[in-house]
Amino acid sequence: MGSRESSFMSTIFFFLLLFSLGCKCIASELHLHATQTAVLKVDASPQLARQIPDTLFGIFFEEINHAGAGGIWAELVSNRGFEAGGPHTPSNIDPWSIIGDDSSIFVATDRTSCFSRNTVALRMEVLCDNCPAGGVGIYNPGFWGMNIEDGKTYNLVMYVKSPETVELTVSLTSSDGSQNLASTTIPVSGVSNWTKLEQKLVAQGTNRTSRLQITTNKKGVVWFDQVSLMPADTYKGHGFRTELISMMLDLKPRFLRFPGGCFVEGEWLRNAFRWRESIGPWEERPGHFGDVWHYWTDDGLGYYEFLQLSEDLGAAPIWVFNNGISHNDEVDTAAIAPFVKDVLDSLEFARGSADSTWGSVRAAMGHPEPFPVKYVAIGNEDCGKKFYRGNYLKFYNAIREAYPDIQMISNCDASSSPLDHPADLYDFHVYTDSKTLFSMKNTFDRSSRNGPKAFVSEYAVWRSDAGRGSLLASLAEAAFLTGLEKNSDVVQMASYAPLFVNNNDQTWNPDAIVFNSWQQYGTPSYWMQTLFGESSGAIFHPVTITSSYSGSLAASAITWQDSENSFLRIINFGSDPVSLTISATGLQARVNALGSTATVLTSSNVMDENSFSNPNKQSRCKSRLFLTLSPHSILRLPSPNSWQRCEAATQAHGYDLSLSLSLSLSFSSLERFPPASSLPAPAPAPSPASLAAGSAASSPTAPAAPPHRLALPPKASPP
Ligand code: AHR
Repeated sequence: MGSRESSFMSTIFFFLLLFSLGCKCIASELHLHATQTAVLKVDASPQLARQIPDTLFGIFFEEINHAGAGGIWAELVSNRGFEAGGPHTPSNIDPWSIIGDDSSIFVATDRTSCFSRNTVALRMEVLCDNCPAGGVGIYNPGFWGMNIEDGKTYNLVMYVKSPETVELTVSLTSSDGSQNLASTTIPVSGVSNWTKLEQKLVAQGTNRTSRLQITTNKKGVVWFDQVSLMPADTYKGHGFRTELISMMLDLKPRFLRFPGGCFVEGEWLRNAFRWRESIGPWEERPGHFGDVWHYWTDDGLGYYEFLQLSEDLGAAPIWVFNNGISHNDEVDTAAIAPFVKDVLDSLEFARGSADSTWGSVRAAMGHPEPFPVKYVAIGNEDCGKKFYRGNYLKFYNAIREAYPDIQMISNCDASSSPLDHPADLYDFHVYTDSKTLFSMKNTFDRSSRNGPKAFVSEYAVWRSDAGRGSLLASLAEAAFLTGLEKNSDVVQMASYAPLFVNNNDQTWNPDAIVFNSWQQYGTPSYWMQTLFGESSGAIFHPVTITSSYSGSLAASAITWQDSENSFLRIINFGSDPVSLTISATGLQARVNALGSTATVLTSSNVMDENSFSNPNKQSRCKSRLFLTLSPHSILRLPSPNSWQRCEAATQAHGYDLSLSLSLSLSFSSLERFPPASSLPAPAPAPSPASLAAGSAASSPTAPAAPPHRLALPPKASPP
C-alpha cells in the first residue's frame, strides 16, 4: 500500500449522479439557493484502505428478451433448422413463409434431415410449370427484420437435397421483396443426398428490416435444412454482434454469469437449458424452446460460445447449471446422480485437457486451451424447493472432490443468518422500488464477516419507479452499489439484471441495454454502471457524509492500482440542491484539481428515459472540473470537444452542466499543475496570487486538505 498512498488523489474524478431543477437553473442560483448542505469526508489513511475484490462488478447475461437469439448472437435466420414448431410434422415453420400461392408452391416439414438430433427439414414442392417472374419459394425475415448493410458481406450456409437438377436464387431483399440488396443463383445437381451449400452475399444497399429469400422457377421438389446467414463481421470472428459486445466491454465486466436465471431452470425440466445439446457443430444442435421466456432458440449461442464470450470480455465465467429443479418439477435427490455426472462432464468440457473425453470436444470446436471456470452456481432461486438442499449437496460434494478450486454458489440467502449447508458464496437477488433499494445500501453492514461471501447476481429498481429504465432507478442503484463497495469484504460480486432487451420482445422490464436489429442504447442504469467500472480490484476508502440531508445522499471513494487516479461518487437522491463541502484526510499527495474531471449523470426529470431517437437523454457527460479562486463564483474553461458535446447534450434538455459544476475553490491542496500547454487556458484565468494561495501542500504529515465546495443541483419534481 505504501507506494500507492503516495499517489492517492493526484487526480480525482467526481461522478455525480444528480437530479436537476430543469431549465430554469442557473449556476449562481444553484449555488446560492442550495437548500441543503453536506460535508463529505474521505478518509484516505492507509490503515482504513481496503482492497475491493477483483471480481466485484460483472455482467449477468440471460437468454431473456431475445438477448442472445436475435441479440448478441449475430445469426440472422430465425428457426434455421425448422425445429421451432416441434418434432411432430407437419409443423409451424414460423417465421418462415412462402413466396407464391398454394397453386404454385406447397411447403411442409417432414423428418428427413441428415442430422440425427434435429430431424425436421422443410420439403418445398414447386407446382407451377410457368412460375411467376422472380420465381416462387420461401423467405425468412429473421428476428423482426435483418439488418443488411451496404458493402457488407453475409455468409450463407444451407443444406439442400434435390432429386433433380435445379437452380436456386438466394437473395437479400426488403421486407416485401421489392428492393434487392444481394442476389445470386446456385445450381444444385440432382442427387438424393443432402448437400451443404455455402455462398457469400455482398449487399448493394442498406435495409434494416430485410429478409432472406430462396426462390426457383423450376417445377419439382427441394428439401432445405439448417439455413444460416451470418454477417462476416462479428466480434473477433466469434459470432457476436460487435456493437453490443462493445457496450458490454464498456462496463469493464470482471465476470460473466450465464446463461440465466429462470432460463436455466425452465418452467419444466424438459425445457431447461442443456449444455450438452448446445455444443458441437451448430448444424447438429437440436435447439430448444425456453418455456419461461417463451421463445425458441437454435442454441447457436451455446455453452461453448458463452465460455468464449467470457474469454473475449476478459471476464471470469460463472456457469449457472440446472440442479434438477425447474419452476414446476424436481428430480428427487435419490435420482440426481445422472444430473451430477452431466455437470461434471460440463466442467471437463470447459477445463479438461484437449485429450480428455469432453475436453477433446472443446478442442475440436477450436479451443484446445481450457476455459478457466472457477465459479459455478448450483441452480437459480431454488432455495425453497423441496429437493434443493439434497441435490445441492450431491453437486457440491462431487464438484469439490473433482475440482477443489471451484467456488460454489448457493441459492440460499446468508446475508442475515448463516447457511445450513457449505458454500463459498451465496446468491442474493433484489428487484424493488427506488426508495427501498436506496436504503438497502446498508444491507450488508450487518452481515456476518465470516462464512460465504455474497454474490448480488441480480439487482434492479423495477415497476413504477423504473419505467423502461429511468434516472430515478439508476440513482437508487448507484447508492446501492456504494453500499456494496463499502461491504466488499463480504460482497464479492454484483451484477445488474437483466442486461439486454430486444425491444421487439420485452418480456422483462427494465433492462440495461435496449436494442433492435441495428440500434442500441443504454438506459440510465447502464450508464450508471459505467461509472463503477474501475471499482473491481480498486482500493476502497471510507467516506462519511454529515448533513441533515444525509438520508438522501450516498457516496464512495476509491483509488485504483494501475493509475494515479481516484474516483469519488456522490449521489443526490433527494429533490433539494445541496451545497457540498468535500475534504480528505490521510492524503499523501496533492490533489491535481486542474487535471480532474467530473462526470455527471442527470436529466431534467427523474423519470426521463433514453430511446433510440434520443439515446443520450441521460448519459454521462464528462468535463473538466472547473475551478475558481473566487468563492461562490463560476468558472468555465475553454471547451475541449468532449466538453462541447457534453454541453450540447445537456443543454438540449434544459440543463447546463457547466453551471452545475460551480465549484468554489477554497482548498489549498493544489500543488502539481499540469504544464500550461497541456491544459486549455481557464477563462477567466486564475490570478497568480490566488494560484499561490492554492499551492500549499498536503503531505503525509500535513493536515487534512482544505475542502472543496461543490454545489449539487437539485432533483427535478417527479412527473
Ligand atoms: O432477471 C430476470 C429474472 O429474475 C431471472 O431469470 C431470475 O433469476 C429472476 O427471478
